[in-house]
Amino acid sequence: MKEIFHPPVLLNESIEFLKAEEGGIFVDATLGGGGHTEAILEANPQNKVIAIDRDEEAIDRAIKKLERFGNRFSVYHANFAQIGVVLDEEGIDFVDGILFDLGVSHFQLRGDRGFSFWKDAPLDMRMNRSQKLTAADVVNTLSERDLANIIYRYGEERFSRKIAREIVKRRKEKPIKTTLELAKIVEFVIPKKLWAGKKKHPATKTFQAIRIYVNKEFESIEEAIPEAVDRLKPGGRIVVITFHSLEDRIVKKLLKEREDLKIITKKPVLPSESEVAANPAARSAKLRAAEKRVP
Ligand SMILES: C[S@@+](CC[C@H](N)C(=O)[O-])C[C@H]1O[C@@H](n2cnc3c(N)ncnc32)[C@H](O)[C@@H]1O
Repeated sequence: MKEIFHPPVLLNESIEFLKAEEGGIFVDATLGGGGHTEAILEANPQNKVIAIDRDEEAIDRAIKKLERFGNRFSVYHANFAQIGVVLDEEGIDFVDGILFDLGVSHFQLRGDRGFSFWKDAPLDMRMNRSQKLTAADVVNTLSERDLANIIYRYGEERFSRKIAREIVKRRKEKPIKTTLELAKIVEFVIPKKLWAGKKKHPATKTFQAIRIYVNKEFESIEEAIPEAVDRLKPGGRIVVITFHSLEDRIVKKLLKEREDLKIITKKPVLPSESEVAANPAARSAKLRAAEKRVP
């Protein structure tokens, strides 16, 4: 089997906006495959990274990859909304830079954890496997109205009501257990002429919506970003990479409403054409950066 690799997105740009070459203490709030952490640690031999991920598999993998950095790297299995607790545990009040590279990793998408319609697997989608609620619970137990609202709100899917109706109809016959069963329901509902021959799978929005709901993604971002800004030194930087417009809108607003932040990226920074050609998953990425004002 081909080994899965997560190419870090907007890597050089992240290192630059974090001013990682100048040296300091950094938080990587979304460790994933450890690509950004590795680059931060390599940017200056004095750098230290405190990393967080709520996915234990990601942590196990990254620990092996980053072993050589010894105690310059420490890692926590936590939700990034707990960034304050993590820093308290490290005995650190303020840091020089904090990175959020939101969304899912290739390990999650390509693995057998039910994140993707490209691979048949049990409908799971939990980033943190010690959490109880799975995508199968959502699909098989929520009311038609709640399902429709989730698919509309978190997926901006205009066929949300029809998809929810079909899900409820099918689950009365037998529970919907796998990614392909769900993907086929969406394919059945959305008229074929709207997706046949196109690159984007018709179930993309529905899967995104259920994943966001299962992992309470927006609630975590809304809690974490203000907390992260509180823990930045004056002159310290926060860098956030998002992967869809709903996420980007939330981040833009959270950064803008802080009077103690100076926005550095008036417009979000996008990946270059060559990055997208090498890594198509980067195509929807947007980077925003801001600096804590010196009082
Ligand atoms: C896009 S990947 C990060 C990739 C990483 N920058 C790299 O270069 O390999 C996002 C990671 O963030 C984690 N994650 C997402 N939401 C989280 C949250 N609320 N708390 C902690 N980790 C989270 C996911 O489990 C995933 O491993």
